[in-house]
Amino acid sequence: MNMGETYKVKIDNFDINGYGVAHIDKQVVFVSGAMEGETVICKITNPKKKYSFAEAIKILEPSKDRVEAPCQYYEYCGGCDMMHIKYGTECKIKELRVSQTLRDFKYKQNPIIKNDKTIGYRNKIMIPFTKDLDDNTLYGFYEKKSHKIVSIDKCLISDDKANEIVSFIAKYLNIFHISIYDEINHNGLFRELMIRNTKLDEYMIVLIVTKDYDFSKLVEYIKEEFPCVKSIYLNINTNTNNVLLSDNFKLIYGNPFVTESILGLKFNVSPSSFMQVNHDQCEKLYSEALRCANLKNDMNVIDAYCGMGSITLNIAKNVNKVYGIEIVEDAIKNANSNKKLNNIENAEFICGKCEDKIKELVNKEKIDVIFFDPPRKGCDIEFLKTVIDMKIPKIVYISCNIATAARDIKILESAGYKLEEVTPVDLFSSTLHVESVTLLVKR
Ligand SMILES: C[S@@+](CC[C@H](N)C(=O)[O-])C[C@H]1O[C@@H](n2cnc3c(N)ncnc32)[C@H](O)[C@@H]1O
Repeated sequence: MNMGETYKVKIDNFDINGYGVAHIDKQVVFVSGAMEGETVICKITNPKKKYSFAEAIKILEPSKDRVEAPCQYYEYCGGCDMMHIKYGTECKIKELRVSQTLRDFKYKQNPIIKNDKTIGYRNKIMIPFTKDLDDNTLYGFYEKKSHKIVSIDKCLISDDKANEIVSFIAKYLNIFHISIYDEINHNGLFRELMIRNTKLDEYMIVLIVTKDYDFSKLVEYIKEEFPCVKSIYLNINTNTNNVLLSDNFKLIYGNPFVTESILGLKFNVSPSSFMQVNHDQCEKLYSEALRCANLKNDMNVIDAYCGMGSITLNIAKNVNKVYGIEIVEDAIKNANSNKKLNNIENAEFICGKCEDKIKELVNKEKIDVIFFDPPRKGCDIEFLKTVIDMKIPKIVYISCNIATAARDIKILESAGYKLEEVTPVDLFSSTLHVESVTLLVKR
């Protein structure tokens, strides 16, 4: 099999990454854009010895689960992967992804918690800018498997008003000939735009630039056109790598944070603090985690990787004491101000790495439940070792990457924990990512 060759194939089934699986001369080929049961013409994109990758270039017999993608950029844009699949089937693939990844464990898998709003659900947009050959300012997302920007007008899974703000700022940059960063020569000013919005209809804009610049005119226009914008920052990012945000934030208008409401509590969020990107599903995710924990008011709890304290403070309502641990200083500042904002007294926030700071809690009161919600790379081994030594009876593991969660669960199972139940949650509709809530108990 060679790169660029085309074949007519029948797709036998889906794999856990949403690829169609076909066989050519007894070799497995993973075909992107193809669905179970379809006959397609595919082009080999990555031939390997044991298995190869291909892309569907013509669908000869479409699946009944295929739909027309609602986004006009879907074919090229690398932002979404599952818009050509009926939503029910997308959810089945995500359930399969979780169950296949955890196939070595005996546990109960609950049905996926579906997303009622698969369009416009994202509350954060991070969008790079570029110029076309005629020097027009464009914005969009990277093409699949490339670093070329696909120019778009709007991103369908993002909030409508956030899309309007992106387009407005792009027009401003164009009209006023603001230079755009060129990632090859590392010159030009404007790199990317981040917009975050909340359920309380508050918007935060972060203009990511290579040096300080006077955007006061743009700020005036935005204030007039979008009164919902409560906060505007510059982020001065001189990195030549692909780190999106630097630590150098400068508030140029309004409040230092926007306010979100989650399960009845209020949360102030700074630009560098993590916030779940799908508000409504985040509430369902947290509710599921709280159900698994079955908290009692005499319990002591740890919320590891706590961000701005959105799970911690929801735990606090039900327990004796809760500790939140988080590495980002601004997120801990938010967490402490959120504690006051909600009149909560039984939460204590600790700033630092979970793997270090959890050790400070070893000889304090007995911990009954620990929540972890780590980044995609999963938990640090030192952290897991301390959790094991502490003999905490119950673990609620929230994960956005089931592969690293499976690795960590294996460590915990071999140290005497039992994986009881797992609930996938669809936080990232139209993409392959799936969130999950996992309950482990000490045998
Ligand atoms: C997936 S987010 C979850 C945040 C929070 N639980 C929520 O639902 O909003 C993971 C968080 O872990 C933090 N983090 C990453 N590595 C860490 C570490 N080694 N120690 C403590 N916090 C860490 C990140 O800054 C981020 O806030």
